[in-house]
Amino acid sequence: MLTREHPIDLFFGGMEKLGPGSDIDTLNVLDLLPRRSRRLIVDAGCGWGRQTLALAGRLQVRVHGIDSYAPFLATLAQRAKERGIGHLVRVHCMDMGDIPMVFRGIDLLWSEGAAWHIGFSHALQTWHAALARHGFAVVSERSWLGGDIPAVVRRYFGRTYPEMQTVGDNRSAARDAGYSVLATYTLPAVAWMEGYYDVLEPRARELLGHPDRTVREYAAAMLEKIQIFGSSGGCWGYVFYVLRRE
Ligand SMILES: C[S@@+](CC[C@H](N)C(=O)[O-])C[C@H]1O[C@@H](n2cnc3c(N)ncnc32)[C@H](O)[C@@H]1O
Repeated sequence: MLTREHPIDLFFGGMEKLGPGSDIDTLNVLDLLPRRSRRLIVDAGCGWGRQTLALAGRLQVRVHGIDSYAPFLATLAQRAKERGIGHLVRVHCMDMGDIPMVFRGIDLLWSEGAAWHIGFSHALQTWHAALARHGFAVVSERSWLGGDIPAVVRRYFGRTYPEMQTVGDNRSAARDAGYSVLATYTLPAVAWMEGYYDVLEPRARELLGHPDRTVREYAAAMLEKIQIFGSSGGCWGYVFYVLRRE
């Protein structure tokens, strides 16, 4: 029988994460929050759950990982078990836009590199109802950081992510959605390279010659993304918005 490897496995197979980030940064951001007991923690768009595992391991409280793609959740559950923290991770295959229909009184809602799928402002507005009063939301979002934007970078995002806003605009959006902004934290360049682009770049180069056109196109798009990152000079990045529901 002919079996074809899924494109996600071709590119991301064996990796810890599906987006830029690191446990050090996740825990640095966690440390920006006031220490208090948290009973209900949700990770929206958890994917393979690098950050889910980091949060559960540090807090020793169950984290509910939410994703709309079941195979990611199966991998997360397996990884949690292998680390001996299977009891601290519960997975839910569902749309992150439906969180308020399933969860109420969330003490901490985390989302790394995923809220953009339903729109940053929309995600904040939607999740507000699910948070406990004075509960926290930590949501990362690609944001313009200031400084000159090279023309090639502006054109690229005009085509691929025209919704990207400045940090100031995102702070205002968070306030308009009913949060106070406690802090922001910008993911350092190393978190994009280590275990992410430095793995994906050689894979993508090799996959440019793949027989499946979709895979070839994805490989080309990945290489363009990596090249744009290299030419951006830090004018944009992933920013964590550390928010408290008011
Ligand atoms: C770029 S990945 C980030 C994954 C993980 N947070 C990380 O940083 O490694 C985005 C994730 O969001 C999930 N996703 C996209 N749209 C979603 C939706 N509407 N509801 C739930 N999950 C969604 C994808 O399946 C994917 O796992």
